[in-house]
Amino acid sequence: MRTEKSQTPQCFVLRPQSYQMEYAMYDDLVTPELLARQILDFRQMQSFAEDPFVIVEGEGLHVTDHTGKQYLDGLSGVFVNSVGHRNRAVIGAMAEQLHTLAFAPPLAGTNPTALELTRDLLDFAGSGFGAVKLLSGGSEATEAAMKMARQYHKQTGHPHKFKILARYGGYHGATMGALSASGSWERKSIFEPLVAGFLHVHPPTCNACPYDHTLDECRAHDLFTCARHVERTILAEDPETVAAVIVEPISVSGAGFTVPPAEYLPMLRAMCDKYNVLLILDEIITGFGRLGTKFGGDCFGVVPDLLCVGKGMSGGYAPLSAVLVQEKVQAAFLGTPEERREFHHGHTYGGNPVAAAAGLAVLHLMRDQHLVENAAAMGTVLRAQLNAMAERLPGIRNVRGAGLLQGFDLDPAIYGPAPGPAVEAAAREHGLLARIGKNFVVFAPPLTIDEAGITMMVDRLESSIAAVAV
Ligand SMILES: Cc1ncc(COP(=O)(O)O)c(C=O)c1O
Repeated sequence: MRTEKSQTPQCFVLRPQSYQMEYAMYDDLVTPELLARQILDFRQMQSFAEDPFVIVEGEGLHVTDHTGKQYLDGLSGVFVNSVGHRNRAVIGAMAEQLHTLAFAPPLAGTNPTALELTRDLLDFAGSGFGAVKLLSGGSEATEAAMKMARQYHKQTGHPHKFKILARYGGYHGATMGALSASGSWERKSIFEPLVAGFLHVHPPTCNACPYDHTLDECRAHDLFTCARHVERTILAEDPETVAAVIVEPISVSGAGFTVPPAEYLPMLRAMCDKYNVLLILDEIITGFGRLGTKFGGDCFGVVPDLLCVGKGMSGGYAPLSAVLVQEKVQAAFLGTPEERREFHHGHTYGGNPVAAAAGLAVLHLMRDQHLVENAAAMGTVLRAQLNAMAERLPGIRNVRGAGLLQGFDLDPAIYGPAPGPAVEAAAREHGLLARIGKNFVVFAPPLTIDEAGITMMVDRLESSIAAVAV
């Protein structure tokens, strides 16, 4: 199934009066009693029930809550809605698929839409990727990649390679293996002990270096201690026991917003090659144009052995993720059934035809509407506007990012040690959604955004931050 070139979703669509919803209809549903019966992610339901946030519809860059209040979606849902809300091309492709085939069991075989997505995804990715494992969520993708790394080494003559090296502050998902790779105690320690064989090193947080170096010092003296610790750890553990390194090119889900220096990922790539360790890039956030390049690795000139993608892959229209596998890795999984070399892993919804139709439609929009290029161009605009805001407002520090993933820190001397919740509340008040951490703010709007959309978002953010300055 092929999607037609889309009827371009407009950033700002004024809905005709006849479409106005009667928001009072949600009053019976959005009650404290019912709200408290849901269990939302990482959220205290008791307080949520008192101050709920219920999104009822979306259009282009906007979403609307159950009271009828509109917000500019500066976070693409949560790094997901890459082609905006209510995109007609994606909806049309999914509807067509639903009318044809809604489910095909991956245990028994595949379906044409999954095949088409595989073909076009490999074509889009290039760089030696030879196979795709289609899945349904980010954690499924990182779990699968780490299991694949272990099985790969067993089947290529290195049966003792099983350790996975990850980073403090990283986030790779909520399931036991993905959580074991993650590095924030806030999400992990309550579930310990976790899976054996996971190691952590400090991340390249140049603005708060764990080794007290500045980036200038690192460059002047070729230090890059954070990267060198990866090699030291591999050596200290015995390279014959280390299977993979997993990192996010730019991380934002765990602790803070970490943008590594240009040197960091190429150093990791070289170390992995040196010690026969697979490099897994977790691009659940950074994949599919988010950084103004097809994948985050491209931003740093690095091609991983296993590439995990999700979120923006389906634009939020269906649960969809994937692991892209380099040809050399894929080769280790081919053989006769008796050899049992096939990947011993699967999920019921992997390669689901409706999810694949959404992914295919999004991929075609990326190509036909040049969304990767738009993300690069609009990223430059966003960075310039954030820099300009930093000149007007006090205490905006370390504006950083790539493409349409841009953010900054809030100086505790001006805003207090943890201004995040207050800024988030002010932003909601001003009709803006963004990723607002304890003391940092990140924008990740849909890749379809234009300059007017960015200006509106930054204006609203500026008013929100000004409202909480102490
Ligand atoms: C970098 C990264 N990896 C993995 C995941 C897990 O994805 P999911 O929540 O779809 O399981 C996330 C989710 O936020 C993420 O940001």
